[in-house]
Amino acid sequence: MLTLEDVSVDIAGIPVLRRLSVAMKPGATYAIVGRNGAGKTTLLRSIMGLCPVRAGTISLAGHDLLAEPSFQRAVLGIGYASEDRVLFPTMTVLENLKLPCEAIGMTAAQASVRVRDAVAVVPLIEPMLPRSAAALSGGQGKMAALARALMTGTRLLLLDEPFQGLAPALARQCALALSQLHALRPELCVVIAESNQALLSQVTCSLLTLERGELKAA
Ligand SMILES: Nc1ncnc2c1ncn2[C@@H]1O[C@H](COP(=O)(O)OP(=O)(O)OP(=O)(O)O)[C@@H](O)[C@H]1O
Ligand SMILES: [Mg+2]
Repeated sequence: MLTLEDVSVDIAGIPVLRRLSVAMKPGATYAIVGRNGAGKTTLLRSIMGLCPVRAGTISLAGHDLLAEPSFQRAVLGIGYASEDRVLFPTMTVLENLKLPCEAIGMTAAQASVRVRDAVAVVPLIEPMLPRSAAALSGGQGKMAALARALMTGTRLLLLDEPFQGLAPALARQCALALSQLHALRPELCVVIAESNQALLSQVTCSLLTLERGELKAA
């Protein structure tokens, strides 16, 4: 349902993804592993429309994603939590969660339903909702960024290094949240980029290795 065919991406004139092809199914979780600088973030950003794709096609459930701007990909049900968990510090956690929904024109009632879903998957964010995003620890911010990605990610959830920097207890909570996701959204496809494969031990997923710009089953 997420299909990439012969996708090539260059950064600063250097090829990072080279004719990369992969097909990912709904209801499955995939982990992209690979050394630092292999291109994992570039791959997620290409799917989200945040970096130019030189050649190839990317489609989601029959929609040609490359024909759509990034915000339209959120409308199509893609959620993205970047490596550096950018939350707006002057806003509360709840406002941060609702922002992507407002940006794509959802009603307040629809956004509230999404908040309920996100809290069901990541319960520990509930007490954080009224707090300023500036007051969160790094790990809490990471969990809030996961919840925010769930707000638009009804079909496809892209998570860049979700475990990085989490204390062991929070990492367990995060893995638990990911394992409960499919109960709430059975058709959701989850793609996790992770440079430290050991952190994936608690997540049931198909492993794909990104090496020399290509994806291979690990
Ligand atoms: N803004 C940039 N300017 C120049 N080169 C960049 C830039 N961003 C990424 N690169 C290069 O693109 C390549 C792929 O980077 P990318 O961030 O996608 O890798 P990654 O697999 O996510 O790495 P990490 O595990 O460190 O997160 C790297 O060689 C990197 O040096
Ligand atoms: Mg990266």
